[in-house]
Amino acid sequence: MTNPYLAQHLPDVLPGNPMHWAKAWLDEAARQGVQRNPNSMTLVTIDAGGQPAARVVLCKDFVADPGYLVFYTNYESRKARELGSNPRVAVTFHWDALGRQIRIEGMAVFSPVAESDAYFASRNRGSQLGAWGSDQSAPIASRGALLRQLRERALDLGLNVSEDVQSIESIDGPVIPRPAHWGGVRVWASAVELWIEGGDRIHDRGRWQRTLERQNEHEFIVDEWQGIRLQP
Ligand SMILES: Cc1cc2nc3c(=O)[nH]c(=O)nc-3n(C[C@H](O)[C@H](O)[C@H](O)COP(=O)(O)O)c2cc1C
Repeated sequence: MTNPYLAQHLPDVLPGNPMHWAKAWLDEAARQGVQRNPNSMTLVTIDAGGQPAARVVLCKDFVADPGYLVFYTNYESRKARELGSNPRVAVTFHWDALGRQIRIEGMAVFSPVAESDAYFASRNRGSQLGAWGSDQSAPIASRGALLRQLRERALDLGLNVSEDVQSIESIDGPVIPRPAHWGGVRVWASAVELWIEGGDRIHDRGRWQRTLERQNEHEFIVDEWQGIRLQP
């Protein structure tokens, strides 16, 4: 049976919830293995002076209802500092091979600690050590200095690593705890655009909006989505 969310056009009566479509597109990109990181997305944050900055991060969870996605990062990185002063973000996914783009705008909040703990525990030990070893976005004199820092921090954690820190994957020893400065960020969607590539640049575009009302540290009360079709 064909999946209605993977149709070549948006239906005339636009779907009530675009996040179900967005999730289906993300799942399909992963299923087809269209690129090495099908869950990669460009994340835009804005600094206190209004300067936007974009970078790629990986979407590690996509929760269609009530409608947010999750990425993981260093809470002292440039992006996280910018989110501290302005939680408004924009995200785009693009799968060239599928002719699909998703644009999401919304509000970022830090994930609950238990969720970050669970995800960190599921990562391989090399990635876990990486979260301790790098002060993301801070300057460092050389790659050699970075590797020395990584090795020193590994030793502080009681881990055995080779002199050149090349064998991080095979490190053994005690459980590596999640650093307090590393965890998840939830992006709650207040606007979504679904874009399907069409012939002769006659693409299909639908844009949905809704209001978000802050409920607590991690959650929003969400309104119904309102969709409109846009010209390409
Ligand atoms: C394919 C790809 C995936 C990435 N995934 C992440 C990620 O999930 N989290 C992250 O913090 N950085 C990730 N990065 C690195 C970021 O693009 C960026 O260099 C880093 O987060 C520092 O950004 P900032 O200084 O603006 O905070 C990824 C980069 C690429 C190219």
